[in-house]
Amino acid sequence: MKANLYYLLIISLYFAPFNNCVMAQEKSIEKNIDSLLQQMTLEEKVGQMNQYNGFWDVTGPAPQGGNAEIKYEHLKKGLVGSMLNVVGTEEVRKLQKLVVEETRLGIPLIFGYDVIHGYKTLAPIPLAEAASWDMEAIENSAKIAAQEASAVGLNWTFAPMVDISRDPRWGRVMEGGGEDTYLGAEIAKARVKGFQGDDLSKPNTLAACAKHFAAYGFAEAGKEYNTADIGTSTLYNAVLPPFKAAVDADVKTLMNGFNILNGIPVTGNKMLQRDILKEKWGFDGFVISDWSSVGEMVPHGFAEDLKHAAELGVKAGSDMDMESSAYVLHLVENVKEGKVDESLIDDAVRRILRVKFELGLFEDPYKYCNEEREKEELYHEDHQAAVLDMALKSIVLLKNDDNLLPLKKDQQKIAVIGQLANDNNSSLGSWRLGSDNNTGVSVLEGLKNQSINFSYEQGPRIFNEEANFLNEVKVNETDTSGMQEAVALAKESDVVLMVLGEHGFQSGEGRSRTQLDLPGLQLDLLKAVHEVNKNIVMILMNGRPLAIHWEAENIPAILETWQLGSQAGNAITEALFGDYNPSGKLPMTFPRSVGQVPIYYNHFSTGRPDPESTVFWTHYGDEKNEPLFPFGYGLSYTTFKYTDLEIDTNNQNSIEVSATIQNTGKVTGKEVVQLYIHDKVASVVRPVKELKGFQKISLAPGASQKVTFILTDKELGFYNHDYEFVVEPGTFGVMVGTNSQEGLTGTFVLN
Ligand code: NOJ
Repeated sequence: MKANLYYLLIISLYFAPFNNCVMAQEKSIEKNIDSLLQQMTLEEKVGQMNQYNGFWDVTGPAPQGGNAEIKYEHLKKGLVGSMLNVVGTEEVRKLQKLVVEETRLGIPLIFGYDVIHGYKTLAPIPLAEAASWDMEAIENSAKIAAQEASAVGLNWTFAPMVDISRDPRWGRVMEGGGEDTYLGAEIAKARVKGFQGDDLSKPNTLAACAKHFAAYGFAEAGKEYNTADIGTSTLYNAVLPPFKAAVDADVKTLMNGFNILNGIPVTGNKMLQRDILKEKWGFDGFVISDWSSVGEMVPHGFAEDLKHAAELGVKAGSDMDMESSAYVLHLVENVKEGKVDESLIDDAVRRILRVKFELGLFEDPYKYCNEEREKEELYHEDHQAAVLDMALKSIVLLKNDDNLLPLKKDQQKIAVIGQLANDNNSSLGSWRLGSDNNTGVSVLEGLKNQSINFSYEQGPRIFNEEANFLNEVKVNETDTSGMQEAVALAKESDVVLMVLGEHGFQSGEGRSRTQLDLPGLQLDLLKAVHEVNKNIVMILMNGRPLAIHWEAENIPAILETWQLGSQAGNAITEALFGDYNPSGKLPMTFPRSVGQVPIYYNHFSTGRPDPESTVFWTHYGDEKNEPLFPFGYGLSYTTFKYTDLEIDTNNQNSIEVSATIQNTGKVTGKEVVQLYIHDKVASVVRPVKELKGFQKISLAPGASQKVTFILTDKELGFYNHDYEFVVEPGTFGVMVGTNSQEGLTGTFVLN
């Protein structure tokens, strides 16, 4: 029976009239799904909607007792549709074989994993990649990640995270594209394309997953898993567009989230998942819950118990249940009692099977289990070269007084100070599940690799070395041992490289902070060094924007290097010594103080935006309104001049905006030219500024280029409160500039 079914499926796929014709293939997939659905029992259908975490070493004997035994039994009965956190061709093959050969219908599993910025070879964290504003590089980085991850049996990544966030206290800002919706949507497209390629059935691509649908990044007070309470305008205009962009780029799956949005857990949110995603946007892939988020609707106070949670989850359009067992334990019962219509189950299963067909798992369930590939691909030198390139592009030069940077390779006595300089892990960030410990090139190693002479002192130890994915990082606030030695070294050196910032596990899931300063004794160390030597280059390593007010005022050169992945030290060295000219721009605002948070460039205007002689205008009594470094900001070893803003309104369907950019410095450099608009009067007020275009150009010294942007309805319109996209005539401000605060400005009238 099972053999016959396989035979039929393969034949109909194989002999589809025009093999390359997508339409014919789609039709044949739908026919195959129809035929499978007809044969499936209700239990088997619900099984497809169940995802379990890996639970035992599958290369060993069958598990005994407890949870593992139940999962194993469920697998054998066809009550599991997907596994997460099972990696390695051997393990994947064993589990796949168990399911394909022992279950009645032999429907293959789909294997998911958090391949966030690489599998073994790690690119920079996504927030750092966003700083490159280089969509080609970002797409390529996702492609490399897919290449490695698919070689260990995986076929599905829980990435990209496309949550917009304006709150750096939230640890997961490291996983996203920053604060801006336009940039975030461009990145969402690039990453989906990179992971999925142009043919999902190829063995080196992964199904992508845009997450967390929706508004997880708006957690109140930046506190992990917290409630999001936002208005419709913010939801429609700031939060949803990157998801829509991912759907338009044909993303195969979406993940919902842990958070409540405006009173309803997103996992149980029908408006989001059914009305907007599936109906309005026509999404035909499936939605996975976040880890146990179906069950978590009980402590949220939305569901009475796990059975009720299962009912609410499926009704709202959550198709697959990650690890809470609510569906596998209760959905059949819910259907039999008439609480859930079986057509909802059929719809969810159809979506899940569709992705499995598209991945080609029915043709060959073991296509991702190629042991040879597994040996060849991991940490491949081509991948190292690609992540180095991405790392270079992600670096942002924040300050460079008197052209202290780039440094000369000799002629100088260089001191390196700071625990992070000698750390092979922190640059890998917190999402490095597949990668091995100590595989990041440290700053010290990077300098040695390029034969730079230097002396090193750690200074006080700041972080406990044993910190891991599950533990809180402990920070030393008191023990100053090592301080004196560091200061002594600084005193006798020409230039001091201070490598400071956050431990790799201080950002990421579950890692919110109330302070945004340099943790522990790092500022004390910096001040002590500054007393004896002002020639300091601060190399920041961090997973979020930091409030580094004193540092920005007193340290002449600051290089933002985030967590740059496997090749961090090599990339940092290239940038320090001018073998690479930094071109990154901040994807998130850096506040002056944590009290300004949330601070973001595209806010609305209050009724009293301008300074007045009294206190009655929008401001703080103890701090400026301006950020420390604005969104879009970043310097270069050269300088750029913007002239000749032109606005052409003569075309029927578009406005053309252009400016000329000239490299006025002495070295070749890249500049991200940014276009912002302001719809001055609208039926739903628009932000004071909105990014609507950018182009990254490279200019030799003295060279100029005219850069042109085309504004169409897509850029000029917005969503009103009824979720209708409208374009309203009237006056628009426009700015073409080097960051969100500086540029050439003009206006035009849209008729
Ligand atoms: C919880 C995280 O929120 C989600 O992003 C991740 O994909 C899952 N855990 C699976 O690890």
